[in-house]
Amino acid sequence: MNFLIVGNWKMNTIPSEGLRIVDKICLHMKSLDISVDILICPPFTHLVVCSELIRHLKSPLRIGAQNCSSESYGAFTGEISAQMLRDLDVEYIIIGHSERRTIFNETNDTIVKKCIQALDAGIIPIVCIGESLQQRDEGQTLAIIKSQIHAICSNEIIVHHEFAHAIIFAYEPIWAIGTGIAAKPEQAEEVHIYIRTLLQEYFPEFYLTIPILYGGSVNEANAKEFFSKKDINGALVGGASLKAESFIEIAKAAYR
Ligand code: 13P
Repeated sequence: MNFLIVGNWKMNTIPSEGLRIVDKICLHMKSLDISVDILICPPFTHLVVCSELIRHLKSPLRIGAQNCSSESYGAFTGEISAQMLRDLDVEYIIIGHSERRTIFNETNDTIVKKCIQALDAGIIPIVCIGESLQQRDEGQTLAIIKSQIHAICSNEIIVHHEFAHAIIFAYEPIWAIGTGIAAKPEQAEEVHIYIRTLLQEYFPEFYLTIPILYGGSVNEANAKEFFSKKDINGALVGGASLKAESFIEIAKAAYR
């Protein structure tokens, strides 16, 4: 499987700044190995112009969204459906990021619904899971991971969905997000191996090809060590994805 490097821009940049970043990434990508897939997830307001620019430049850079509605259409003021995003060439949606779980009170049930919406629209969900510092300190990490994976993978619609094989998981320990304190690669790998073991129960036919990304303070300096671990198949990058040069360096670290 190709490494996948994802930039989650969160609520940063205005569209014109976003276009400048895309332009630079596309330029750098011309000299990059095609065995690494690179994806940016800008704010909703940037999606149209960014995908137009990517198409214009004929770049293999991919585009994703940071969220979608748990509903498909109707009277849900302010919401954006997965189907609407599909129409904008969006290929991926980040679902259940810890910021959505904690700040916007998203539950596992909401995340399951969003995941189904994405799959129904033919969009690949990148489902985020991870423990808080307190949970880690209390030795709860694996139990939390298990319950988050179970919530997604025990759902009958998801497990039998024709695109279930496309789901991506991202392990993002909450304590490592935006703190500059990344998990140690060994700590991350331990959880990734556990996630793979859990996935085997639900998806015995294709658990080995499900990408598991690591996220939380990934940068140019630490990326290579993460990518040297067998079950770390890419990165979900926040802050460092806002600088094209740093983001590209992270992608280069994924070269085999
Ligand atoms: P940072 O890379 O800024 O820690 O953010 C990680 C993240 O939340 C990506 O989704």
